[in-house]
Amino acid sequence: MEQLLQQIEAYKQEILSIAPDGAEALEAYRIKFLGTKGILKSLFAGMKDTPADQKKEFGLLLNEIKQLAEGRYESWKQSLEGSPDTGEKIDLTLPGDPLPLGSRHPISLTRDKIVHIFGRLGFSVAEGPEIEDDWHNFTALNLPENHPARDMQDTFYIHQHPDWLLRTHTSSVQARVMEKQKPPIRIICPGRVYRNETISARAHCFFHQTEGLYVDENVSFADLKQTLYFFVQEMFGKDVKIRFRPSYFPFTEPSAEMDITCLICGGSGCNICKHTGWVEILGSGMVHPKMLENFGIDPNKYTGFAFGMGVERICQVKYRINDLRLYSQNDVRFLSQFTAAT
Ligand code: PHE
Repeated sequence: MEQLLQQIEAYKQEILSIAPDGAEALEAYRIKFLGTKGILKSLFAGMKDTPADQKKEFGLLLNEIKQLAEGRYESWKQSLEGSPDTGEKIDLTLPGDPLPLGSRHPISLTRDKIVHIFGRLGFSVAEGPEIEDDWHNFTALNLPENHPARDMQDTFYIHQHPDWLLRTHTSSVQARVMEKQKPPIRIICPGRVYRNETISARAHCFFHQTEGLYVDENVSFADLKQTLYFFVQEMFGKDVKIRFRPSYFPFTEPSAEMDITCLICGGSGCNICKHTGWVEILGSGMVHPKMLENFGIDPNKYTGFAFGMGVERICQVKYRINDLRLYSQNDVRFLSQFTAAT
């Protein structure tokens, strides 16, 4: 009897020490311990030879090892087959959890609307780098070194490279396009620009522009006016009036700034329009012949117009935003007001 007990203890230890690493090893274990000719079967068969007074103790031991052997078998089997089916069912017809949608930034909405309006007139989008060289930002645009108009644009220069700067306007993209493409050219250039200005409600060190350029035969100032008038009506509504004031830009001649009637007071005067009833929204003009020449475009054959507007300003007038800093403070209470399409 003593010997048998030792044998059972040895089997127990064996069961505890094995860990089948695959279906085959598991099956070998099953056959060895749980099979019809397995160890457990033969142990149970030994019951009949056990003296009556030890039958109970022996029976308990056998049941213990049987449970151990079967329990280990089941848990190995499950871990080899993957996670057990818990009986929990997923109802695939239930609606999903709603994902809170963010809103689009008012500058993006306004930029896209501007691009869309000019897109309908046949202008296609052109883009260029924000780190620009002197030629594309200034010299090619008829702004040679020491030209006083360079002072109008408080430029950020890049220390490590004397020729590089952060573009002060997207007119640099016009230069890049004229360099590669010949008329007809009809492009709109949206993008971020940088100027070294003190940040306040009315100025920021970076902002966004969309500039347009149209070069072809027989392009006139009348085309410029009509194009911009169409834009204003689409952007702000049919009742808005425009006016042009003579101005100066080195890359256009003649040049003009365009105002629209103040949407906030309707023209009667308020602090947004500085009590004039008019708000300036863009600069424009006929492309300077010198600029066309710079890119090998014959100014006797081709003429063109160009314009540039600040997206923040258009957005400010459209949505009545009184502080430029709101655009870049990322305050969700401000930003979430612009979910609707423009
Ligand atoms: N580049 C000018 C600016 O940034 C705007 C402009 C563009 C004016 C094209 C005339 C023609 O102020």
